[in-house]
Amino acid sequence: MNKNNLSIIFFILTIICILSIAAIADQCSPGPFIPEEGSDTKEAGESKEPSEGEPPEEEFLEEEEPEAEISLVEKDKFSLTIISVYDNYHVNPQLKTDWGFGCLVKTEKENILFDTGANSEILLFNMEKMAIDLKSIGKVVISHIHGDHIGGLEGFLKENNEVVVYIPASFPDSIRNMIESNGAKFLNVLKPLKISDFVWSTGELFGPPEEQSLVIHSMEGLVIITGCAHPGVVNIVKKAKEMFPEEKIYLVLGGFHHPPTQVVGEFKELGVKKVAPSHCSGDEIRELFKEEYNNDFIENGVGKIINIE
Ligand SMILES: [Fe+2]
Repeated sequence: MNKNNLSIIFFILTIICILSIAAIADQCSPGPFIPEEGSDTKEAGESKEPSEGEPPEEEFLEEEEPEAEISLVEKDKFSLTIISVYDNYHVNPQLKTDWGFGCLVKTEKENILFDTGANSEILLFNMEKMAIDLKSIGKVVISHIHGDHIGGLEGFLKENNEVVVYIPASFPDSIRNMIESNGAKFLNVLKPLKISDFVWSTGELFGPPEEQSLVIHSMEGLVIITGCAHPGVVNIVKKAKEMFPEEKIYLVLGGFHHPPTQVVGEFKELGVKKVAPSHCSGDEIRELFKEEYNNDFIENGVGKIINIE
């Protein structure tokens, strides 16, 4: 075989090699991905990352926590302050006392006024003395229809009507009309209802009259605030336990409505850690609670500020 023939064979082999390599490379290349018509590029359970600068698609936004579930992560950040603004007992002599009940519930999210006492002038005087900004209050909860709890509402609404008033659903239309005619909104409460983060209503419970109480998730456990406890203060505590059976009861505060003396033992059995009876609780019951609870008895009255962190 002469030199020319060898060159031709080598040339032909080189061409064959190049063509074979190109064919193999073509098979391994990913190429452009063209989804089949109607298919979705997202696998089930997988979230799609938006490209930089592109807003996330709505379907991938994190959904809000369902109302009934309260995560421990949320609780880690929660602090609560309760300020008595209306009571017939007092802890600050610079403030006015009067038969009735009202307190401000301050959370990191918002300020909620629970009951308004009997007289708006006294309510507004006490709030001003304590440097409480009326406009910082966005929600008002009225426990029940008696004048020593709702009497201050209209005068309050004349100063701040940018509120939603949570009323027992059994209230007559005359109260709804009064709230609306003052430019505020109302919300009827029948069953347990979330009023704000960590703050719930028991819903209206039969007294008579029908009454709602607050149940607040604090870092220490449940805080229950009663206006006058016509449904029975022990029944209200049991209702709170029924709503949140996993939680311990840290504090019960407010008007206990002259309960029988066995209430002290029943509170102990229910695991109530601290008590702050005022308003219509009665001196005798307050003394009994003081003896039994010692340092866990909180002297409550207008001007009292309770911080729970
Ligand atoms: Fe009352």
